[in-house]
Amino acid sequence: MKNVDITTSINGLKLKSCIMNASGALCSTKDELYNLLYSSSGAIVTKSCTKNIRIGNSLPRYYEFDIGSINSMGLPNFGIDFYLNFSTNKEIKKNKPIFLSISGLSLKENFFLIKKANLYSNISALELNLSCPNIIGKEEDELIYNYESLYKFLEKTFKYNKKPLGIKLPPFFRKKDIKNISLILNKFPISFITCINSIPNGICVDSYKESTVIQPNNGLGGIGGTIIKPFALSNIWQFNTFLRKDISIIGCGGIISGKDIFDHILCGASAVQIGTQLIKEGVSVFNRLHKELISFLKKKNYLSIDNFKGKLKTIYN
Ligand code: DHB
Repeated sequence: MKNVDITTSINGLKLKSCIMNASGALCSTKDELYNLLYSSSGAIVTKSCTKNIRIGNSLPRYYEFDIGSINSMGLPNFGIDFYLNFSTNKEIKKNKPIFLSISGLSLKENFFLIKKANLYSNISALELNLSCPNIIGKEEDELIYNYESLYKFLEKTFKYNKKPLGIKLPPFFRKKDIKNISLILNKFPISFITCINSIPNGICVDSYKESTVIQPNNGLGGIGGTIIKPFALSNIWQFNTFLRKDISIIGCGGIISGKDIFDHILCGASAVQIGTQLIKEGVSVFNRLHKELISFLKKKNYLSIDNFKGKLKTIYN
């Protein structure tokens, strides 16, 4: 039998594997980034960065349960210069693309970060995080929920951005929101979207202690893991119907097996990101998922991702 090919392309940017880490999962420190560099992932996505170093919210701020996780990290990161400096390592160019995740605390900060990242040749793409739910006292309303500001922001962004740029989106629960956001994104030379970020403002309870499980924000935090997979799939599928065909979709949410990756691609994803399961299992998760995806595709007689990408069937009588 012929080899199964799980290479992919994100709007022309080639990846040797369609599987990568989600921003926030084991991608903050030097050690974590080097572990990702030498893992079998197809790309490195860095922890969302700000202009200055941030220590983030108080502990405990991350908690795992059987079918997911809750977090309110508060953007702990070493500041953009640290991640740009990592990108200058010679190994990166030979090894794999690096996606710099950017999450400025204001519009001005985002423009500053985008401009600065444009000066670094080893940064293959920018993933602009317009969906961080955990900043206490954030100065501006989230851009993604205000269509007019989003349009103006993108207009200005593309005046000085020359790199492939994608947007990390929050989950949407109304079809009309997905349609409206798509209409805006379609007007700009966006390379990809990543959907979905964690579902914001969940609460997990410790029934014995009769308490919340994380400290910040009275225990409210972003939910990830298996429990959010149906919402990830629905957002991917709907965006795939409304977005311009050259805008790639990176699926994120609830992947723990090769079959989960298959489902994301079937709904329209060109690549996938692993968050909660990477934190649970470590970077060996990439090898396992790689093998599971290939063996599932062999069973189905698919030789490449393009054979089934976006081909989810719906039931009609
Ligand atoms: C954080 C959480 C997010 O969901 C995100 O997109 C960015 C940052 C955080 O709390 O650090």
